[in-house]
Amino acid sequence: MKELGLSPVWVRRRGSPSAGQAEAGAVAIAPAAVVEGAEPAISSALATGSVPDADRGMQIQAMDWAQLKSSASACKACVLHKARKQAVFGVGDEKAEWLFVGEGPGAEEDERGEPFVGQAGKLLDNMLAAIALQRGNNVYIANVVKCRPPGNRTPEPGEAHACEPYLTRQIELIRPRLIVALGKVAAQSLLGIETTLASMRGRVHEYRGTPLIVTYHPAYLLRNLVDKSKSWEDLCFAVQTLQALKQRPAAPN
Ligand code: URA
Ligand code: SF4
Repeated sequence: MKELGLSPVWVRRRGSPSAGQAEAGAVAIAPAAVVEGAEPAISSALATGSVPDADRGMQIQAMDWAQLKSSASACKACVLHKARKQAVFGVGDEKAEWLFVGEGPGAEEDERGEPFVGQAGKLLDNMLAAIALQRGNNVYIANVVKCRPPGNRTPEPGEAHACEPYLTRQIELIRPRLIVALGKVAAQSLLGIETTLASMRGRVHEYRGTPLIVTYHPAYLLRNLVDKSKSWEDLCFAVQTLQALKQRPAAPN
């Protein structure tokens, strides 16, 4: 893909596209809602007494960056805490206009504590470079779940739901102009809809008032080379969308 300057790295690798869904929209975590969302996760969480209480969402909503990071690294609100080496909070410019949201940490991310540092991450960096962006500079990168799902399985809807207050608070603190959801899990979790990725592309959605567009997950692109050109279309669409948004005045604080 010449336009993206990605030819050296767009090679087929192992990795799996993910499918899954989560309820989004309901961010304040009521215990009943969580119990409904994730049977195995929550029954074991109940056993350990780590079910989020009704105040958890509100507490997280009031946190500053330092509190949020330390809360996530100590979090036991879903079973994913059990196998993690560390929570992978997010990385980048805390005042970024762009927020990219992936699914969840993999092995290398769990090891290093930073999102998208493995093969998919290299591709993400190249995707960013193709639209003149760089990790850490006007871009923030986060995941739907902060802890690595064992064996890189797709996060359960209940896990995504339990973790959502962290992402919601990150978004509130960053106040990005545009969110790019990478892949079906991120898109479905954030938008609360169960539909195909193809049908979510090419439109401007909204997550709690922030414009959001959807594209393929880089790990999926590594396996499905044929969709590279579509992801390039999505990135161009994202750039145009952001430019158009910048013609408008920013929302007041
Ligand atoms: N895949 C993701 O969705 N997130 C990461 O951080 C790494 C791989
Ligand atoms: Fe907590 Fe999120 Fe980790 Fe689950 S994935 S333990 S909700 S930080």
